Amino acid sequence: MLCTEVDTVDRLALPRSGSLKITIIHLEPGDVWVHALRTRRLFYMTGLIPQDFIDDLIARADIVEVVGRRTQLKKAGREFKGCCPFHDEKTPSFTVSPGKGFYHCFGCGAHGTAIGFLMEFDHMSFVEAIESLANSMGVEVPRSESDQPARRYDELFSLMDTVARHWQSCLKESPKAVEYIKTRGIDGSTAKRFGIGYAPDGWSDLLDKFGKSEEATERLLATGLIIQKDNGKHYDRFRDRLMFPIRDARGRTIGFGGRTMGDGEPKYLNSPETVLFHKGRELYGLYEARQALRSIDRLVVVEGYMDTVALARHGIDFAVATLGTATTDEHLNRLFRLTENAYFAFDGDRAGRKAAWRALENALPQVREGRQIRFVFLPEGQDPDSFVNDAGADAFVKMMDAGLPLSEFLIQELSSQVDMETIDGRAKLAEMARPLVNKIPAGIYRELLIESLATAVGITSPKLEKMMAAGSSANERVPYSGAVTAKKRPRSMASGGPSVVRRALTLILNYPQAGRKLDIEKLAGVRRAGVDLLIALIETVQSEPNITTAGLLERWRHDEKGRHLGKLAAVDLPADDEFDPAAELDECLQQLAIAGRKERIEFLIEKQRLGGLSDDERSELRQRHQGHQDQGL
Ligand code: UTP
Ligand code: MN
Repeated sequence: MLCTEVDTVDRLALPRSGSLKITIIHLEPGDVWVHALRTRRLFYMTGLIPQDFIDDLIARADIVEVVGRRTQLKKAGREFKGCCPFHDEKTPSFTVSPGKGFYHCFGCGAHGTAIGFLMEFDHMSFVEAIESLANSMGVEVPRSESDQPARRYDELFSLMDTVARHWQSCLKESPKAVEYIKTRGIDGSTAKRFGIGYAPDGWSDLLDKFGKSEEATERLLATGLIIQKDNGKHYDRFRDRLMFPIRDARGRTIGFGGRTMGDGEPKYLNSPETVLFHKGRELYGLYEARQALRSIDRLVVVEGYMDTVALARHGIDFAVATLGTATTDEHLNRLFRLTENAYFAFDGDRAGRKAAWRALENALPQVREGRQIRFVFLPEGQDPDSFVNDAGADAFVKMMDAGLPLSEFLIQELSSQVDMETIDGRAKLAEMARPLVNKIPAGIYRELLIESLATAVGITSPKLEKMMAAGSSANERVPYSGAVTAKKRPRSMASGGPSVVRRALTLILNYPQAGRKLDIEKLAGVRRAGVDLLIALIETVQSEPNITTAGLLERWRHDEKGRHLGKLAAVDLPADDEFDPAAELDECLQQLAIAGRKERIEFLIEKQRLGGLSDDERSELRQRHQGHQDQGL
């Protein structure tokens, strides 16, 4: 886990495992987490929600009831089916598994736990979802210390507001900051509209002004405005930076982005995830756009704070920025609730194309008739800010209108990866397009896209459609990034490759109990993507023997490493008598251990070749060689 973008205070799941504890100690802002570590509880505003309580709640919640209250479900075997509430469909592909405590849609890929469902469907925050769930089950959310729920949010929002206004007035008093925004082409009224401010230099400006009592300091900490050191002392997070308040849909300040005005690092420092601020969801400038426009005909998604502000300065009031993250499903949901016309503006370089491709992949499930999604690529070396300042608003809008429609971008990008002159190349294009097209909900849009593809490939669309239907599986996934360039390379289980890790993760998520007796020692020293996560999951099921699939997912809800766990939990594993998940898991560990040993030997041999083995390593190599041969390898 990285320290700067610390996990949400209220969401951090703390498995009682050694490994995660150690990770937490490494977190740079020693804030809140230290409490959490000591008490093994989640810091939550002025009170704490014990992790045990969340585990228990998730284990006891009836997901069928939670979902069934909002969308119609029918029993189908051990599961329940219905039409997906997150996308339009006529034939049900939405499945709820009471056993796993988990829902999943094979059509659009939506998935989650009861808590996740409430967050997605009812747009609740994590804490609200817990409260609602607890409420419906007739239990009260326990909070230890100073339990004053009524005051919690209000006080934090009002603190954020006060600080934003304080920084705005500091801006006026800082000639340097005023000069800086002038050089960036921002005028006074735009600065005011976006509430831009200046955080003065010094370690304790906020602390001195707004942290006079212990409670006040706690609030500064909970909103991420100050950082706690190991020795318990605090200091201001934002110093000598131009401050951009990030507002929620109601205009309340929930976080800040601060730009250095020199060459300091990082260029932009952002609020950490807090109870108020969830970075992956927010679109900077959305509130301001809604204020400025009577109706939102279109929205353009840009990458930076400055891009949004510069466009607004030039009268383009419909620009919103993702906060340095890729475009997420949550962003897209938010966009399409407001408008049918979405544009994505990216830099013209390779990184920009890549980011655009990711946005395309995420947008596919949302594509439908009547919706327009265009990809706009800026000239090399420019971003919307520099472009609009150089060329003006009309030129920007013209460029937007000339943006590539999603379908064209898709075909163009795929065509550039193959040799369209050859039959092989065109077949490959069809092959690559299949999983992408299958993500699009059935309908006219999909049919039109297939038609265009068919033209590009040079066959009739019924034929192409047939090719696409053949071999398509509901579970098929496009590799998350680099879909275009990644060559398909079959990886065998026997090599202990990533698929073994994946398999093991899938097994333990689906059958947490099967991990109870595993010997983690086997994985010691195995260095492979995902092994850390696997170890943490195993440790969790061993210390929490009753944890469910949903419980595990909740614990990793906001962990970057856990991002794909939901997809793995949705994989359908055979449930016949032959199937023994515990034995399979053990087998996976075994394979990983062997592969790990082999790699270590290869590493040592290579090092030996280069003449750099220490005495210890030499004897290790001898021993390992022996052991390796004994196993007949
Ligand atoms: P860019 O590096 O493209 O900056 O980052 P920019 O928007 O062009 O900013 P200026 O024009 O140099 O002022 C795009 C976005 O990525 C996030 C910010 O949200 C930024 O607006 N980012 C970037 C960070 O969060 N931290 C950084 O250090 C850099
Ligand atoms: Mn810029």
